[in-house]
Amino acid sequence: MSQSVHAGNRIDEATGAVRAPLVLANSYALPDDPSAISWSSSEATIYTRNGAANQKLLQQKLALLDRGEDAVVLASGVAALHAVFFTFLRSGDHAVIADQTYEASFRLFDELFPEKYGIEASFVDTSDLDAVRAAIRPTTRLIHTETIANPTTRLADVAALASIAHEAGALLSVDSTFTPPPLAFPLEAGADLVVHSLTKYINGHGDAMGGSVVGSAELVGRIKADAMVDVGGVISPFNAWLITRGAVTLPLRLRQHVASAQQVAEFLEGEPRIAYVYYPGLPSHPQYDLARSLLPNGAGGVMSFAVNGDPDAQNRFVANLRVITSAVSLGHDESLIVHVGAGGARVVHYPEEFRRFGHLRLSVGLEDAEDLVDDLRSALDATF
Ligand SMILES: Cc1ncc(COP(=O)(O)O)c(C=O)c1O
Repeated sequence: MSQSVHAGNRIDEATGAVRAPLVLANSYALPDDPSAISWSSSEATIYTRNGAANQKLLQQKLALLDRGEDAVVLASGVAALHAVFFTFLRSGDHAVIADQTYEASFRLFDELFPEKYGIEASFVDTSDLDAVRAAIRPTTRLIHTETIANPTTRLADVAALASIAHEAGALLSVDSTFTPPPLAFPLEAGADLVVHSLTKYINGHGDAMGGSVVGSAELVGRIKADAMVDVGGVISPFNAWLITRGAVTLPLRLRQHVASAQQVAEFLEGEPRIAYVYYPGLPSHPQYDLARSLLPNGAGGVMSFAVNGDPDAQNRFVANLRVITSAVSLGHDESLIVHVGAGGARVVHYPEEFRRFGHLRLSVGLEDAEDLVDDLRSALDATF
């Protein structure tokens, strides 16, 4: 993973600086005869929406880290997800979508795409390969899943899903936000496109939003042409620069996130005041064996659990935490927790405990694991 240090950096020819500078300009000098340039091109560096200096450096870095031919970076993880769906689906197409995913992926296919564009979707348990096969239609163009589902931590077997997709003549896109490299390499397992919310682990410092899609030059080129330049959800140069810097320490940070998450999950599991814990590194996880084979470098840093009580008890517990912060997002340096209730359209697809208690999604940060365990224990003492 030395690429995380070197890729996307270069010596600046103008100054000799050993770090690539931040270039905030919107426009770049045109050649003497610009009349033949396509203003929708993502090749020529002409305007930040067509691809700017820091964005291109970040793309180089991410293509290498995800082991793909090319990358496109956009303004947010959701912009990246939308770019995939917008580029490869059209009216009358059908998509098989994991029934446990990040909220926006669910809502895009539950409401927005069917209503606005006539794109049909089946929500399927993507850990049940027979169910995925059964959902395929002649019009299926895409299967989309998450490596580890947000928030239920259900795993997807990317290689098996890739075979099903390719047999059906469809693409497989995988949101690997919970498992950035080196935890998972979905392209090597057969996925066509891998998506990350860069806002999370890859930036890692909670101070910039971004999203990426990595894959073959051909597929990524289509996303750049259709969804980047002419839809326009581009990343700002400053955010691209911040994320390129944040990603330098990605492998180091992940090692710590994984080790601490394991310790925290084991503490929670041994606590009688905790109703349930879902973390793929625990032997009690329904897919523990699969997690060990698919994720040999660790099961990530996110878990879902609930304290043994009603929604008010969940809130009191969170309010009693002193080290862990109550806020959305994940993969930041600081530990974050969010209490999510048991309502909403997609909760019907969650495991029974999530529907009974709601859930607390905990992203284990880079504080000492002992401090996090002490914080959780003290909050339990103050709650019950
Ligand atoms: C799995 C997953 N995908 C995508 C996103 C969306 O990313 P962003 O908030 O950068 O748009 C999130 C955000 O929480 C996520 O958890």
